Formats: sequence, structure tokens, C-alpha cells
Amino acid sequence: AALKTYQFDVQVKNVSRLCHSKPIVTVNGIFPGPTVYAREGDTLLVNVTNHAQYNMSIHWHGLKQYRNGWADGPAYITQCPIKTGHSYTYNITITGQRGTLWWHAHIFWLRATVYGAIVILPKQGTGFPFPQPYKEANIVLGEWWNNDVEEVVKQGNKLGLPPNMSDAHTINGKPGPLFPCSEKNTYALEVEQGKTYLLRIINAALNDELFFAIAGHNLTVVEIDAVYTKPFRSQAILIAPGQTTNVLVQANQAPGSYFMAARPFMDAPVSIDNKTATGILQYKGIPNTVQPVLPQLPALNNTAFALSFNAKLRSLNTAQFPASVPLKVDRHLFYTIGLGINQCTTCLNGTQLTASLNNITFVMPQIGLLQAHYFNTKGVFTTDFPDRPPTPFNYTGAPLTANLGTKLGTQLSKLAFNSTVELVLQDTNLLTVESHPFHLHGYNFFVVGTGVGNFDPKKDPAKYNLVDPPERNTIGVPTGGWVALRFRADNPGVWFMHCHLELHTSWGLKTAFVVGNGKDSDHSVLPPPTDLPPC
Ligand code: C2O
Repeated sequence: AALKTYQFDVQVKNVSRLCHSKPIVTVNGIFPGPTVYAREGDTLLVNVTNHAQYNMSIHWHGLKQYRNGWADGPAYITQCPIKTGHSYTYNITITGQRGTLWWHAHIFWLRATVYGAIVILPKQGTGFPFPQPYKEANIVLGEWWNNDVEEVVKQGNKLGLPPNMSDAHTINGKPGPLFPCSEKNTYALEVEQGKTYLLRIINAALNDELFFAIAGHNLTVVEIDAVYTKPFRSQAILIAPGQTTNVLVQANQAPGSYFMAARPFMDAPVSIDNKTATGILQYKGIPNTVQPVLPQLPALNNTAFALSFNAKLRSLNTAQFPASVPLKVDRHLFYTIGLGINQCTTCLNGTQLTASLNNITFVMPQIGLLQAHYFNTKGVFTTDFPDRPPTPFNYTGAPLTANLGTKLGTQLSKLAFNSTVELVLQDTNLLTVESHPFHLHGYNFFVVGTGVGNFDPKKDPAKYNLVDPPERNTIGVPTGGWVALRFRADNPGVWFMHCHLELHTSWGLKTAFVVGNGKDSDHSVLPPPTDLPPC
């Protein structure tokens, strides 16, 4: 195991896209930010120095940070922000994980431009459980706004409405030639005929689940969220914000230029967003003057494709990489996901859109929850988050008013150390129908079941996959449906859980778990580092 150090200078830089130039927040002046490389077992020291006029924190999405939430990064959950002119070193030990993850700013909407890939290679001397690819490349999908993103959000908040949609989708920060002034801002991957490539695909978009495909080439899925899967071939993949997917692609077509493309999946298009980001798969030695062909992407609202793609995901589950699914459950949780309207004193028309879990809209605290927990500071949060909604209703029936009036609170749920948890996330069908990619910090979970309509606690558990369910850190709760997740609460600390659609997170679609300490100090939260940003 090695010690790797990185310096992240958060700084503002002018960047031009879509015929506009604007200052954006970057890490080290590059966009997307630098890739962090490590091997399983390594320790990373990432010193973040904030030179920008925004408070900042960085989250290492998908890294488990065992006993060490201090390095997790979500502002006001595990730390206070790094203020302008200040630094903080994230001290991260990578245990039992290898694959593709990513890092991003975790405060307001700054992750719009502050993000990058994390590549964790297998331990020295260990290969992949699939044929060694010839080369690999990162494909980081994102969104671009012509205006300042924080301003766009403020404007929306003032009106009590969602902010404007992004102006483009991007591949490695570049929109590609279907957008104005973007010929030169096109990502190209050069390949050699007959060789196999590993693509590490990351969805860093703020608000869109995406389909991704490459014209003429099949994708073989081998890993999701840094967990190996049983390989399967697909013409396209579905990837939600927060998720990562590794695919193998063989350059086995007639030498030429082929478009790779990403476009949203919205199973209930409240607003049509059909913008397509493109990049080029370019065979070596072929002039790039030939017009490439576009891949067949599933249609915007192709729910059938989305459901069947997700249904194919299975943990590899070999002796070396077992799926250790909890078979017995100590604690059953059932959370409804609601969108509604609340009163608002600061917005123009007196109401604003809001989101809730079990009718509770999460209120961000003023100091980090992990500090409050560690130092036993009273009055910051409560641990009375309900295990189920206040009154059961027909969650996916006709529009109802059962969770329009939500309660505001910083309510957490307390989990006993090493207890096993089943969490059912149930979408509700009140204002709009939308898919929600839920992300849990500090853990992976097993997706043991999913379905449309209302979860049935009598019938559905019988259909669970407890053998090789997909293991991940972010899962799309299907529109008007549910997912059942299981995990063992073996990582003490305070761990955020939220919808990874930034819009919904800001409306309050978030909560956190307090996981208690184990019996001894080896199973307890580590002491905070001395440079932890003060509140
Ligand atoms: Cu990738 Cu809490 O986020």
C-alpha cells in the first residue's frame, strides 16, 4: 500500500462553451477536474486549498471512509465548509474497494463544474476478473449552463420554481458538434482496430439520468459503482447521477468515426430535455473528415429499456468477490419519497416546491452533524426520524394530498452498530412522477428487490434476490415504484442519504443516519483531524 498525495487548488477560471465564456469554479484550473489514481489499500492525502469566493467542500463519492466520516465531505453533514483562503486535507484509506468512483463539490450546486474521476486499480499483482483491456479511458458525463449556476438556482428559488434546465450535456466537459460553437469542444477517443478498451463512465450531471451508447459498438457492462458485475452486453447503458459504470468495448467495426452519445432518460417528461452530447470514437489512421453516424439511443421516455437494463445487473459473486447480502434483517425501514408545495416567506408568490422523506423536509444544520454527534452537542439534530410514513396511503394511486404538508426538521435515524437494515424507498405519485437516484454515503447496499406500484410487505420479499443482487452506492427508485435495499451498519458515524438530482436535494429530499460505535475503540469513529474546518 502506498501513500499518494494530491494538491487541489480550488480556483476560478474562464471557460468557453456554446459561444459563451464565463468564469467557473475549477480544481487546478482544469474542467473536468483532475483524475485521482490509487490502488486498493492505498492512503490518499488530498489537500484542498480554497482560492475561490465560495465556501467549498469535496465529497469522495462511493469511498466508504470506514470510521472516518471526517474525510467524506458533505458540507454541514460531516464538516463545515473550507472557507476562502483556507485548506483542509482529506485523509482517505481505501480498503476493500477497487474500480471507478468520482469526487465532486458537496455544497449548493457547485458540483456543476467541480468534479472528476477516481480510478482505483486492483492491488498490485491482481488483475481484473475479465480479460485485461488494451487501454482505458474515463467518460465523465455532465451538464453545462451558459449562465452562472448559483445565479440560476437563486433565480429559481426566488420564484419558488425549479431553476432553468442546463443548456447542454457534456462528455468530459465537452458538448460535441450538435451544439453551437462546439466543433472544437468535442471529446475524441482514438482506438486501434481489434483492440478492447475499458471505459469508465461516470454520470456527474446534476439533474438527468442518461442513456449512453456508441454507434455500431456493443458495450459489455463489467462493473457498477466500483463493484464487479456478471458481464452482459448491451447496445446502450442507463446511468443515473452519482452512478459509475465500467464497460468493455471492442474496436471491431469497419475503421471509421463513430459517435458516442448521451441523452436524458425521463420516464415522465414534465419538460422535454432531448439535448444530446456527442463525442467521437475514432479509429487510428482514418481521417476525421468523415461524418460519423449517431448511435441508436433509447427514446427519452423508454421506461421499458430502463427497467430491463437495471434488471440485468448482478453482482459477480465469486469466492474472491462474494456478495455478502444480509439474510436476516434487524431493522425494517420504509421511506416514502414525496414532492409537494410549502409556504415560503422569501419567494415571490409565497409558495415553493419542496420534497420530503416520510413527510419530513430535511433542514440543513449550521454546524456539521458528525461534530455534533462526536462531541455530543445538543440541539443540532434529533434521532426521531420515523421508520415509516405517518399514515399509510395508496402511494402510487391517483394524486392525493397525503404528503403535501410536510414537516421541517433535522431528523436522523439511529442505527445500532453492525445491525442489518432493510430500507424500502417508495416513490409516491402526488404532483409529478419522477425517478429518484438515491445515494447513501459511507456504504454500499444490495438492491434486493424493485418493482412498480406499491411495495407489498407480504408478497414482495418472497421475490427478493438474496444471492447475487447488484451492490452499489446509488440506485434509481423507479417512477411510481420502489426499491428494497439491504446493508450492514458496520461503519460508525453520520452518513448522508439523498436524491442525487441536485434539484431535489435542494428541495429537502435528504436525511442522514447516525450509526453508533461498536464495543471498542477499534470499531468507533476516529478522532477528528486537527485541520477540520471550524464552523
Ligand atoms: Cu455524490 Cu452526497 O453525493
